[in-house]
Parts: sequence; structure tokens; C-alpha cells
Amino acid sequence: MLKRSLAAVLASSVLAAAQAPSTTYRTIPSLTPQIDAAPSLVPAIYDPTAPNAQAICPGYKASNVVNTTQGFTADLTIAGPACSAYGNDIADLTLAVEYQAKQRLSVKIYPRHLAPHNTSLYILPAFLTPEPSGDGSTTAATSDLSFTWSNEPSFQFKVSRVSNGEEIFSTYGYKIVFEDQFLELVTNMVKDYNVYGLAENIHDFRLGNNFTQTFYAADSGNPIDGNLYGTHPFYVETRYKDGASSLSHGVYARNAHGQEWLLRNRTITYRTIGGSFDLYFLSGPKPTDVIAQYQNGIVGLPALQMYWTFGFHQCRWGYENWTVLQEVVDGYANAGIQLEVIWNDIDYMNQYRDFTNGELNYPVGPGQEFLARLHAAGQHYVPIIDSNIYAENPSNASDAYEPFQRGAAMGAFIRNPGTGDFYYGDNWPGFSVWTDFLVPQGQEFWTYECSDWHSRIPYDGIWIDLSEASSFCVGSCGDGRLDQNPVHPPFKLPGEYLNVDYEFPEAFNITNATEASSLSAASASQSSANAAISTPAIVTTTQARTLPTPGVRNLDFPPYALNNLFDGHALVKNSIAPNATHNDALNTTEYEMHNLYGHQISNATYHALLQVFPGRRPFTVGRSTFAGSGNFTSHWGGDNNSKWGSMYLAIAQMFTFAMAGIPMFGVDTCGFSHNTDMELCARWMEMDAFMPFYRNHNVFASVAQEAYRWGSVAEATRRVMNIRYSLLTYMYTLFYYAHNEGETVMRALQWEFPDDASLAAVDNQFMLGPSLLITPVLQPLVTTVKGVFPGVAEGTIWYDYYTLQPLDVAAGENKTLDAPLEHINVHIRGGSILPMQVPGNTTETTKNNPYELTIALDKDGAATGSLYLDDGVSIAPNATKLIHLSYASDTLTTSLSGSYHSAAPLANITIAGVPSLPSGIDLSIAGQPCEAAAVTLVHGAGVLYLSGLEEFTPGGAWEGEMVLRFSF
Ligand SMILES: *[C@@H]1O[C@H](CO)[C@@H](O)[C@H](O)[C@H]1NC(C)=O
Ligand SMILES: *[C@@H]1O[C@H](CO)[C@@H](O)[C@H](O)[C@H]1NC(C)=O
Ligand SMILES: *[C@@H]1O[C@H](CO)[C@@H](O)[C@H](O)[C@H]1NC(C)=O
Ligand SMILES: *[C@@H]1O[C@H](CO)[C@@H](O)[C@H](O)[C@H]1NC(C)=O
Repeated sequence: MLKRSLAAVLASSVLAAAQAPSTTYRTIPSLTPQIDAAPSLVPAIYDPTAPNAQAICPGYKASNVVNTTQGFTADLTIAGPACSAYGNDIADLTLAVEYQAKQRLSVKIYPRHLAPHNTSLYILPAFLTPEPSGDGSTTAATSDLSFTWSNEPSFQFKVSRVSNGEEIFSTYGYKIVFEDQFLELVTNMVKDYNVYGLAENIHDFRLGNNFTQTFYAADSGNPIDGNLYGTHPFYVETRYKDGASSLSHGVYARNAHGQEWLLRNRTITYRTIGGSFDLYFLSGPKPTDVIAQYQNGIVGLPALQMYWTFGFHQCRWGYENWTVLQEVVDGYANAGIQLEVIWNDIDYMNQYRDFTNGELNYPVGPGQEFLARLHAAGQHYVPIIDSNIYAENPSNASDAYEPFQRGAAMGAFIRNPGTGDFYYGDNWPGFSVWTDFLVPQGQEFWTYECSDWHSRIPYDGIWIDLSEASSFCVGSCGDGRLDQNPVHPPFKLPGEYLNVDYEFPEAFNITNATEASSLSAASASQSSANAAISTPAIVTTTQARTLPTPGVRNLDFPPYALNNLFDGHALVKNSIAPNATHNDALNTTEYEMHNLYGHQISNATYHALLQVFPGRRPFTVGRSTFAGSGNFTSHWGGDNNSKWGSMYLAIAQMFTFAMAGIPMFGVDTCGFSHNTDMELCARWMEMDAFMPFYRNHNVFASVAQEAYRWGSVAEATRRVMNIRYSLLTYMYTLFYYAHNEGETVMRALQWEFPDDASLAAVDNQFMLGPSLLITPVLQPLVTTVKGVFPGVAEGTIWYDYYTLQPLDVAAGENKTLDAPLEHINVHIRGGSILPMQVPGNTTETTKNNPYELTIALDKDGAATGSLYLDDGVSIAPNATKLIHLSYASDTLTTSLSGSYHSAAPLANITIAGVPSLPSGIDLSIAGQPCEAAAVTLVHGAGVLYLSGLEEFTPGGAWEGEMVLRFSF
């Protein structure tokens, strides 16, 4: 049912059209379209003339084996004439094998004679992302993994699992290729292997064997199988045995250069355009063990997030002014839907300049009043910061931009090696520079600007965008042209297209027939308006493969052409160019740092926020991430689409970030690009209520999509939001275990049931922690959904979240569930105790509301759960409390550790799977018997409800250990 009128939709699109493009303060440009021209290349994977390094390269021979404390080293010497496949061969290498821990083996191959971090062949330093060393005790004799090698026909190695001798990685039959701009190794794989991870990709969860993962950070939306924002060269492989067990292992390749992973029939080929082989093998044996080993042992554990960040976030690009923000805040309140955080996209800035506010629409004074009201209501504000810094016009004093002046005076910006001056690319505000986080003044500059702006606009967290780092022209295009700033390039920027381009979701024409036909008429008239600002042609040439030059790297056009997804594929497209140079002593280039820019700016923002909010956990959400970014940032899935397929692929994307150690992940709910509609938005609001980071966001000039815009979406959202808020404490506890132990929050079914081969590819359902199974509707026009319910053959019971009735499902059945529009299927796994609270209108009120327990018994009448409490904001809280809950033999017991005090009482306990009303109950708290007559007991349909418990825990639910025994 469409509740939103056609008139409203049209009015909003007409309004949007009248205001777009939102760049009217700039004269449209005298620049030539050629500032965005780059030669067109053929990616090596599609180039039939590209050399086959395996065929032409000589490989290496190992010699001079020397034992070390935890392994050995050897010399690798090139075994024939250089092949120069895509670079200059490096003749002398060192192999270092280290049994670093029982479950972790490291294999490094690096140049023997080049000092590490030599600029002609950059080796990733440990300060950028952790480089673990050995535990000091594990050896080949005590490791889960063994390393064997051979020199025939050339150096090759394999890593095997000691317990069963199985090869988990083997280059046998393939050569090692090691050149300054090209490294390759090939591993043999089992038939139809199950490989997962390699974030960031928009792909099925199980990657399959016909897939190429290109890692070169790109401001590219959510392209299926194309490179996008993040680089996490880590995969997990699961091998199922005899239908009843499985073993999983992991591989991490610590290298930040542009790279490709070619997943093919029976092999994976790993290629990078620089650096070294720095490989880590993890023995698992469960998928979740591998993930924990990766986080605990290598890249580091995820940052603990503040409690309020688990509330609901609303954003959009196109909130015109503070009044509109206030209307959105009020809209949620009036609809009775919790809103914790209101966000701003680039609309708030003065001419898209970071750390400024538009004087007309977002003036500072009224902003402070707005934020004071917001904060008084327990709500929060997170604005966007773009990764570029506007370069002021040197010949126009009125264009002065102080952040640029300060950063320039400090030499805090990346340079153009051709001129020695700063590198002037282009982004929203015009010609721009980028902060250099390889030198201390980069951090100083960033911290100062974040603090200075916070003194005017007291934001609560920062959203970092465009951190690939995106630039809208090729090279240092602002050289000699800064006096044209604020320039607008001679083409439309992403987002400046009128909404004639904005399609609706699949099936919109059926669910919204009248609206659809009127809109199509309206779009015809708008297309002429669009044509009026159409993009001038850019003339490009094609360029043959570049050939290696002895002693020199070709940074902008490396001989190995990655399948970079932009037009023409050149690395100089849509990003700061590879030859842009940092100010560090090594003059490190973007060729080396490109995939780390977003990692570094998020880290710098984290440290800036530590200054702004001393002792408080920084909240940053970044777009481009690298292995280890979870230590300091969360991530959103970037510019997805208001399409059912995009909603479905969000689940797999979320799994890969759980693996990568960035559990604080969510996607733009209801979709970013294009228009959403009522049905998609309702289903998506429902699904994302179970994602850790829950934010609704959409693109400029698309239809408004706040949850209250349609009656059905509002109703669906109210229902699911109350579930989310009642489970905040459960989610927060999951994050505690993620932060402390590398456990996952969102989980693939495969991780919880690793021995069930039928779950190997399931990515249309997911679990939130160990206890909740979510079965979202991922297609239009349906009122049922199918889902699988693992473990039934072994006796697992799944209870409907709403009725607490056990689901009637056979082992292996693809069960059809009712799924009316305003309902999402959620099931509780038998054996779980869910700590819950009565949902309030904010996370803070919820935190102070009475506790409730939902206990779902397993087939043996038992269940367990836990609950972590602290102040929700401090990096090092004064006090914490961990509560273990356990139910067995008709008795609930709690055990407590820590001294954090929560004043909220325990009010109710609901137990599913109890056959009859107990005849008696015994309750003791802190060893003191309580007079339990006041407790109300109700039983029906296998569910026992206890209420009236508050009076026994008036000083707080978790002050004394509880024993609650039922007699039957
Ligand atoms: C080196 O270690 C291996 C395996 O532990 C052992 O077999 C070999 O004898 C050692 N070599 C020397 C020279 O100690
Ligand atoms: C592999 O993927 C490509 C597209 O990415 C497709 O054209 C081709 O048919 C696929 N091959 C197989 C064997 O599925
Ligand atoms: C996959 O590789 C194996 C071993 O190299 C080969 O026998 C088989 O024919 C290949 N299958 C396909 C579908 O290409
Ligand atoms: C805010 O923007 C809205 C929508 O464009 C407009 O109607 C309103 O007049 C603006 N209010 C202020 C105070 O600028």
C-alpha cells in the first residue's frame, strides 16, 4: 500500500531539480574536458598478448638454509635469465619461515640486498599495519602447520596441516616471480573450493572459482565484482570431510600494493605490483577460529564502540539546512520511532570545504542551538568530512581558506613530484590537496582542524568519505590554475545528475503502478533539462602495455595493468595519481600508499577525536579501509543502490567485514543511489535492524526515505526498532567479545554450524551472535520467505522470536515462513539466554530501563548467555561487569565479576520450552533467600512468564548472584 502521495513525490523531485546542481555558487568552467583524460589500457587479465610469467620466468633456487629460533632462512637465487614479465627481476631474495604460534606460520620472501623500505621496492612497514613476530617458543615440532619445499624444477613450497597431512597451500608446479613491479605466486587448490573473504567485494559470500578480486581503492559505488573501497587480502578456506565435519584455515598476504587474486579452477594466482611476499597461514580449524586468529594474532582486535552508536542513525545527502534536520528529528519523534543520531552529508559545508559551515543554510549559531537541543534529548550528531582540503585561490583574498593556509604552512600536504609544490587534484570544492599522514605534521594539522571545528560545532563522531583518495581529474590538474578556484570541472560531478536518472526498485511499477506511470511522463520532460548540462566529450587515446625499464619503476603506468574498473582502467583515473609523493624521508609515493590512504585518514581521525574527547572511544566511520583498520574505525558499505539485489549483497559484504575485523559495519539502509520505494525500504529497515551499524542514507535528489515517510515503513520500523533497542545489551555484549577475543558479531550460518556442508554458500540469512537467526525478505511482491534452520538433525530447536513457539522444521528443510510486509522472521536458537531491556526512546533511556531475560531452552532443558556492562563511552572504564547466565536442571544461576553498577532492576523472565507450570519457586540473591510469593508465574503453550521480580533487585539486577529454582 502506497501511503505517500504522488504529489509529494513529484513535489520533492521538482524541488530537487530546481536546486540541482547544488554548485550554483561557481561559474561553470573554462577547463578543458581533457583534465579527466587518461590513456585507455587493456587489463592484463583480459590481454591475450600479456606475458604469462609462469611460462617465461625462471623461478628461483633455494640454498644456504640457516636454522633460526622458530624456523629457518634461506637464500633464493634466480634460476635463469631475467624474464622482465612486468618489471625488473630481483635476482637475490631471502626466504624466512617462522612457526610464529601453534596456529600461525609466516612465510616471507623479500629482496636480500635492498634495505627494507627502499623506495625502489617498498616493503610495508609495521607502523602502518601490524607485522606479527613469533611467540618465542613454537617450532616446527609443535606447530599445527608444516612447511616443506623443493628446488625441483625450481623453488616451490607447501604448507600442510600436521594432524592429517593435508596441503592447505602449495605452489608445487608453479614458479615464484619476484620483480620490482610484479610479484606472482600460484597455489594449487582442491576442486570446487570454499573460499571466503578478500574484502572488499560485492559478490556472493562463497567466492567461487571464477572470480578476480582486484584491490585498488576506488570511489566506484558498489560494483559487482569490481574494485571498490577496501583492501583486506585475507581469506578463509573451508574443506568439508565426509559430510559430517570440516576443517578451515586462513591465508593473509600482508601487502598494500595494487594487487589481484585470480580465483580459478584448481588454482588461486596472487599478483601484486610491488612489495614483498609476507604470508601468514592460520590453522583454525573452525572458520571462527581462523577469524579470531587473524584478529588476535595479526591485524589487531576491533575498537570497542560507544553504546549509543548502536542506536539508529539517519542521514541523507540533501538536508538543506538546520531547520530541515530539526524536521527530520521531529518526524521520527512524531512517528514514535527511535532516532539516536542525525547526520549531515556535504550539504552543511561552505562550498564543500571541510571544517566550515555554510553561512546561509548551516550557520554556526543556530547550529549550536540545534545541537544543544539534540544533545539535551540524548541524541547525537555525526557530520561528513571529505578527504580532500580545498586549495584557496591565491589571487582572490576573499577566497581565503584557513585550514589550507595552516596545512600549507606546515607542509602537511602530499606533493607533485614534477613541481615540488603540492599535488592539486580536484574534488567537490574545486582544486584540492590531500593531507600527508606519513609525516607528523599531517596528524597535527588534522587534529587541530578537528578540534577547532568541534569548538564551534560540537559533533559526536566523524564520517570520513572519499578516502580512496578520490580525485575528479587526472594528475595534479590544478597546477598553474588555482586562480580559477573554486573551479567546477567541465563535467557533471557524481550526484549532479537530475533525478531523471534515478530509477526505482524492481517491481516498483507493479506495487506503485499509478505513481510509476506519472513519473515516467515527468522524467521525459526532465531529460531535456539534463541534456542541457550534459558532459562534454573527453578524448582519450589507447596505450599499449608499458615495458619494464631497467632500474626504474613506472609508477603511473605499471607494466602489469590491473583491472581497475574505471573507464580505460588507468590507475591515474578518479584517484590521486600513483606518483603523488609524500614528505617522509623516503619520499614514499601513492603507488605504495594508495590502498592505505583511507586507513591512515581514519587512524588520524581516531587520534584527533582522542584529543577532542579525552578518554572517550572515538566514533569514526570510514570508506576506504585496509587490514587492521578495525582497530580504530568502523565502516559503511559505501554507495549502494536502492535495489533488491543490493540489499541481498549487503549480507555477504557484512560477513567479509566481520572476517576482516571490522564488525561495526552496516550499509545504507533503503539504498543510497536511485530512488527507493515503500516495499524495499520496509524490508530493508527490518533487515538492518540486526546489523551493528544501522543507518538510513540516500543520495541527493532521490525521493525522501526516512522511515516515517510511508505508513507501512513506519510501522515495520517501530516493531523492529523496539526489538533492536530491547537487544542493545545483547549486541553490546557481542561487541565486548569481538573487542576482547576476536569473536564475530554478525555471523554466517556456516560459522556457527561449520560441519554442515549445505550451509557453505548461505548468504540470504545471517545470525546476530550465537543466538538469533535472521531470515530477511530479499525480493519484492512476496509474503513468504524461505530459510534453512541448521542443527535440527542434532536436536537444535529454533523458537519464533515473537511467539516463542518451536519452529516445526525438518532437518535440511528449506522452510517456508510467513513474512507479511511489516514482519521480519527472527528465530532464537534453543540453548540461548538473551539479556534484554525494556526499549526506551534513546539508547541511554534503554540502558536505565528494567532488564528482562528471554531463555530459550535446548533439548536438554538448558541454556546459557552473558551480559557485559560498563559506562558505554570510556576507553578504559573505571568499572565493568561481566555476568554469566546459565539455566540447567530447572535452575537459573548468575555469576558476576567486576564492580560496574547498573541501577536497573530485573523485571521479567520468559522461558520457552517449559512443559508445565512449576509447583514452586525458590529464589535467592547473594545467598539470601527471598520471599518469592510476590512473583507472578503464568504458563501457556510451553512458555513460562515470570514478572514482578523488580522488588528483589531494587538496587540493580546484577548486584548479587542469583539462584532461581523451579520445582515441578
Ligand atoms: C635445522 O632444523 C631442522 C628441522 O628442525 C633439523 O632437521 C636440522 O638438523 C637443523 N639443522 C641444523 C644445521 O641445525
Ligand atoms: C566466468 O565469469 C564470466 C564473467 O565474469 C562469465 O562470462 C563466464 O561464463 C564464467 N565462466 C564460467 C565457467 O562460469
Ligand atoms: C579443472 O582443473 C582440473 C585439474 O587441472 C581439470 O582436470 C579439469 O578439467 C578442470 N575443469 C574445468 C571445468 O575446467
Ligand atoms: C530550509 O530548507 C527548506 C527546503 O529547501 C526551505 O523550505 C526552508 O525555507 C529553509 N529554511 C531556512 C531557515 O533556510
